[in-house]
Amino acid sequence: NNKRRPLVAGNWKMNGSAGLAESMRSTFATAQLNKVDVAVCPPFVFLHALADANVALGAQTLSEYENGAHTGEISAQMLKALDCQYVIVGHSERRADQHESNGLVADKVAMALAAEVTPIFCVGEPEDIRDSGNLYEYLAAQIDAVVSHVGIDAFEHMVVAYEPIWAIGTGKTASPEQAQDVHRFIREHLAKNNPAVAQGLRILYGGSVKSSNAAELFGQPDVDGGLIGGASLDPEEFLRICQAAD
Ligand code: G3P
Repeated sequence: NNKRRPLVAGNWKMNGSAGLAESMRSTFATAQLNKVDVAVCPPFVFLHALADANVALGAQTLSEYENGAHTGEISAQMLKALDCQYVIVGHSERRADQHESNGLVADKVAMALAAEVTPIFCVGEPEDIRDSGNLYEYLAAQIDAVVSHVGIDAFEHMVVAYEPIWAIGTGKTASPEQAQDVHRFIREHLAKNNPAVAQGLRILYGGSVKSSNAAELFGQPDVDGGLIGGASLDPEEFLRICQAAD
């Protein structure tokens, strides 16, 4: 069943330094990883410090515009020029702090796709939504906003990340069963539109992944790797998490 190649991506958020980029580079230079793709998503200003390292590069967001008078923004083409293979889109922290709506997230996904940068499209519910029993409707609305904008076939060039907000940075992970239930839901939901695309789609889990819980999470049939926050700031620990998917 599980023929998808796993991806483990580190999301540094607004953390790190040139020194961390350097130690990440040397830790991974000699790492023997065969069956897993690895990406690091540092703040924009450290992307160059990880160029040509033994990991793929990703950014944490991008502009919904192509270019022009948008002070402070970074375009998809600029990320492509820096060799970014991935870009995180719709992280819950940006949905909250920068008020990114489902519609804006869809626009950003479209920009990334047009530049051939793979969006890591994030979805996930706050705890009260889970408690209220509206979990699947909530997630379906997040997903459908993107499907209706870019079309189901575009998901062949995308990665989805499921990050339950209550598990982010809290040390409280979803149980492997909870993660699997949602990942299966996401895949089945997309399969209604295109079963082959849904079957090939990598769906990552994010939320307090550590080397001590990674193997069990990644072992679930519909969990194809992880999006790692805090634990990606420690190169040795991040490598152990990558090894758990290898
Ligand atoms: O994008 C990754 C993230 O939100 C998870 O963060 O610190 O719980 O691993 P963390």
